[in-house]
Amino acid sequence: MSKEWFKDSVVYQVYPKSFQDSNNDGIGDLAGITERLDYIKTLGANVIWLNPIYQSPNKDNGYDISDYKAINPDYGTMEDFEKLLFKTHEKNMKLLMDLVVNHTSDQHEWFQKSKSSQDNRYADYYIWRNPVEGREPNNWRSTFGGPAWTYVPERGQYYLHLFSPEQPDLNWENPKVRQEVFEIERFWLDKGVDGFRMDVINFISKPQGLPDIQGVATLGATMSCITDGPRLNEFLKQMNEEVLSHYDVMTVGEMPGVTPEDAIEYTGPENHELNMVFQFEHVSLSPNPNLLLDKWNDEPVKLSELKLALNKWQKALDGKGWNSLYWNNHDQPRAVSRFGNDDPIYRVRAAKMLGTTLHMMQGTPYIYQGEELGMTNAHHTKLDQYEDLDSVNAYHELVEQNRVIDGQTMLKYLANLSRDNARTPMQWNSKINAGFSKGTPWYAVNPNYKEINVESELNNHHSIFYYYQNLITLRREYEIIRRGTFEEIDLNDEQVYAYYRHHEDQTLLVMSNFTSQTLIRDYGQNNTTKYLIGNYSEDKGVTLRPYESKVYLM
Ligand code: GLC
Ligand code: CA
Repeated sequence: MSKEWFKDSVVYQVYPKSFQDSNNDGIGDLAGITERLDYIKTLGANVIWLNPIYQSPNKDNGYDISDYKAINPDYGTMEDFEKLLFKTHEKNMKLLMDLVVNHTSDQHEWFQKSKSSQDNRYADYYIWRNPVEGREPNNWRSTFGGPAWTYVPERGQYYLHLFSPEQPDLNWENPKVRQEVFEIERFWLDKGVDGFRMDVINFISKPQGLPDIQGVATLGATMSCITDGPRLNEFLKQMNEEVLSHYDVMTVGEMPGVTPEDAIEYTGPENHELNMVFQFEHVSLSPNPNLLLDKWNDEPVKLSELKLALNKWQKALDGKGWNSLYWNNHDQPRAVSRFGNDDPIYRVRAAKMLGTTLHMMQGTPYIYQGEELGMTNAHHTKLDQYEDLDSVNAYHELVEQNRVIDGQTMLKYLANLSRDNARTPMQWNSKINAGFSKGTPWYAVNPNYKEINVESELNNHHSIFYYYQNLITLRREYEIIRRGTFEEIDLNDEQVYAYYRHHEDQTLLVMSNFTSQTLIRDYGQNNTTKYLIGNYSEDKGVTLRPYESKVYLM
């Protein structure tokens, strides 16, 4: 494989806590993942990205790390990890770790020492400021609710946390902090891991002087103020030069709010920073932004806007950077429920349609566990069914504290948007707890597991699983799918998402019906040479049946 293997890869994302429990304590673990490597291999993915597995008090399911070099005992031991890594490599797959270095846990030794006084070795590892007129140093908001500052009496100062108070932000301005991070990276790379997904990495460089936000200081405004800070390129270049360039690795930076122009800087090969970024435009379209509700607006997105968001990235990065392609991850509701249709009549077709639309684009596709089965949202109706701090805090803040909306409306928002939708256990079979665990699962299995599960997918040749397997095989076979340039078709069509890809003298035509109606569309598919794939067994030319998706090579 070439140094550019990241461009030819398909990534499978594993959320360890919910994937497979091997010892029946109700929590997924490393040994469970090892048991299921052949399953991932059969699907055809060649890279696995693991959400955080480090020691953590789990306030935010592992995104609050208290020891970067230790394995969370719920997930097993370092030996279990080494075995997983060895087996992954033995099967010719690669393993990416989640690197969470914008912040640590407040239980991390660095923070425990840092907060003890203004004068100690770790005093400047975090972002401390004096009170301003007895209050927070500025008006920034935290992602999980409330102000982004918490006061510590021992120091007589506030510390910055863009997430929960248990997730203090590291001070990247301090060169010692950067060296600590590089050292952690080397520790895992020397063990043989194949790269990193870097958590909110465009938050690490804060604007100089930490200025107040002018106007209404919403969460959205806070995020725009701190993303892509002045020293970000410098920090990433230093990390690349001192660490990453010495290994054969793949890197993807999670970057909420990033623009294509910035992404070209981070991923352009001549800049030596990252291989690709996760952008958020297509999953954070808010048709009617309501400042107070911020990210909780759940109005359905217009197809033209979804196309605008994705097409923009396809066109902008071509030849200049590299895209990652995803509908789903552990922070997003299930794609088939959100962008398709999870009514049993349409679910299978809609899931395949979404897969086709994304997997025929230029970039590296990411499949989130269960997406290949068409797993759906949990459709919870009560607050106590939610586990994620983001959802629970938002309910308390918006409904009880600020009374911006009523409880029923907020429950509807949560049902559509909560991150918990993605975190229900993997559905392996129709037996107890979907085959995830024989103990009591840490989080309830989606009751639809009797219909939607791996075993029944593997027994049915027309399943979503095998369809995804075909999409991956086609990507491996056809250079036009991996490298072709993108040409959009009729942006204003609110029903069909169609596009061409061009490579040498070939053209690929992709067309997807995002509705439950039968439609007629002619994009020249009658002069075609080859029908490559589609989610109905027989091709009907210009006719597109409900949620039909098809691909031609012209
Ligand atoms: C990222 C993670 C998310 C986490 C947050 C804070 O967005 O994907 O799960 O809560 O960062 O680390
Ligand atoms: Ca377990």
